[in-house]
Amino acid sequence: MTAAFDLNRWMALQLDAVERALDCWVNVDASADLDHHAPAELMAAMRYAVLDGGKRLRPLLVLAAYEAVSAGQGDGRGAQAALRAACAVELIHAYSLVHDDMPCMDNDVLRRGKPTVHVQFGQASALLAGDALQALAFELLTPEPAVMPDAQQARLCRLLSRAAGCTGMAGGQAIDLASVGLQLTESQLRQMHRLKTGALLQASVMMGATCSQTTALATAALQEFGAAIGLAFQVVDDILDVTADSATLGKTAGKDADCDKPTYVSLMGLDQATAYANELLAQALAALARSGLADVDALQALAVMVVQRSH
Ligand code: IPE
Ligand code: IPE
Ligand code: MG
Ligand code: MG
Ligand code: MG
Repeated sequence: MTAAFDLNRWMALQLDAVERALDCWVNVDASADLDHHAPAELMAAMRYAVLDGGKRLRPLLVLAAYEAVSAGQGDGRGAQAALRAACAVELIHAYSLVHDDMPCMDNDVLRRGKPTVHVQFGQASALLAGDALQALAFELLTPEPAVMPDAQQARLCRLLSRAAGCTGMAGGQAIDLASVGLQLTESQLRQMHRLKTGALLQASVMMGATCSQTTALATAALQEFGAAIGLAFQVVDDILDVTADSATLGKTAGKDADCDKPTYVSLMGLDQATAYANELLAQALAALARSGLADVDALQALAVMVVQRSH
């Protein structure tokens, strides 16, 4: 009989590695190799945006997917690539939050339990910190070829850039802003959520998978898994905006209704939105079961966490 999977223990181990890597890479010292330092104020805003806070769900998905495909047979280089990928996705996510909170977008003052970056550092610094975090994400994915083979760098950059750009997160954010005050159909709302949030979560899974060898069957199943939990994640974000308080969320609750944003709760009500999130979880778990992968405990547990989380 195999021992029950201990998600908390697994997460503590992975989070320790991720936090240490982020602290090291988003750092003045790390940017000093070409005889020039990042301006201290810009670096301070970048570190403020990335460090001390956040669930790190995207990095955890990268590492869990890597674990699933490498099945404990991964080598040091694969693990190093997965850690770089995990941090790169988190940098894109952190940048998206900095910009999402700015007055020209959601105009939020609280994020991860702290004043938002533009409140703390001013709008110009927030804009630039976001820009620089995005660039740093791709710098992490393009080290010397001895660290990561060129083909793998290209695969990771392709996945991340597509998920972050106009057919991914940035595109979804544009739809979000253009939809204020509108009633979207379910299919329009699904498309908006898939782009603004789902794409980056799905990319996290696929980036982890591409750090090791895998089968076409597993790749297709992981695509489906990532799409389902990616959408479920934003459905639950919409629900928590209504049901949780600001202290628990670390961001202002009730913002969606205040800003007149179309959400799954405004479209179908709380009960149906919750049922839909559970339906997506079932789809994700079914996809995983079809993957042919043996070591999926962490992915499975993270999928449950995405839907059952309290913040
Ligand atoms: C919040 O994401 C923004 C959305 C995409 C809905 P998270 O809930 O993952 O935020 P952090 O990283 O834990 O702060
Ligand atoms: C944000 O969606 C998605 C991003 C790409 C950052 P929300 O605007 O709902 O995220 P929160 O609720 O502010 O975290
Ligand atoms: Mg927003
Ligand atoms: Mg927002
Ligand atoms: Mg939200």
